[in-house]
Amino acid sequence: MTHSSAAADLPEAFFTEANSVEVVNAKIGADASPRLAEVMACLVGHLHAFAREINLSHEEWETGIRFLTRTGQICTDERQEFILLSDTLGLSMLVDAINNRRPEGATENTVLGPFFVAGAPVRKAGDRISLDGKGEGCLFVGRVVDLDGKPIEGARIDVWSDNADGYYDIQQPDLQPKWNNRGTFFTGPDGRYRFIGIKPVSYPIPDDGPVGNMLQALGRHPYRPAHMHYMVHADGFQKLVTHTFVGGDPYLASDTVFGVKRTLVAPFERLMDGQTPWRSEYDFVLARSGENR
Ligand code: BEZ
Ligand code: FE
Repeated sequence: MTHSSAAADLPEAFFTEANSVEVVNAKIGADASPRLAEVMACLVGHLHAFAREINLSHEEWETGIRFLTRTGQICTDERQEFILLSDTLGLSMLVDAINNRRPEGATENTVLGPFFVAGAPVRKAGDRISLDGKGEGCLFVGRVVDLDGKPIEGARIDVWSDNADGYYDIQQPDLQPKWNNRGTFFTGPDGRYRFIGIKPVSYPIPDDGPVGNMLQALGRHPYRPAHMHYMVHADGFQKLVTHTFVGGDPYLASDTVFGVKRTLVAPFERLMDGQTPWRSEYDFVLARSGENR
């Protein structure tokens, strides 16, 4: 066999440092879904550009592989370390921003986080969600309105927060009452909601795994500023997933998952003669379905 016939079936170009992206992406088959092909080709382009730009060493590549392996190994039904990685790298907030480009005036979204649990008990307006007797009580009140300020009746509001020790109920199933600091409420004809929780406290995200090690190696702390979580649904409106943050919290400017937005920092006022020592009022403004920037 001559040299030229032996090479007849070979590709035009073998993999080189310079053509790596084109060679890998040329392998995507004609039957791949167009969106998958687009996403993967773009990912390969950026991944190779990253390795090239920083001159990735073999040792660094191995460190990365070990890190991702540990990240996968620590994942369980209760713990999603990859989402925590996405959160701490700002990817979760970026994806959230890309997918929630709302009109000016609508309440902004922020990260869902790993501690939402569907199906929290439906409670009556004014009910207490804090069941463990810990923490400083806080009355949460406000309205759900549309962009014209008109009240939205029948909006469903799911709320959840940590307890006074900085843990969600599902992190301490043996220590906290089930559904502690959680509840589902519906707005009345005036769009109002009202419930009693505690003034939330700042807390570290789970940092005993690879993401915690990464934060430490980068000189980053694992804390989130104190916040109350909300998920608001109303027919004809975009779902809102957000928090209100406790004004004055020392971690507002350095939230480890980048979830803070200026418009979500809420007033928490001290009450001298109220049913609770604290009161926080915040109105949620919903954009209609399909109403985007
Ligand atoms: C949370 O606020 O519950 C949360 C968000 C992202 C990562 C960890 C916790
Ligand atoms: Fe939280």
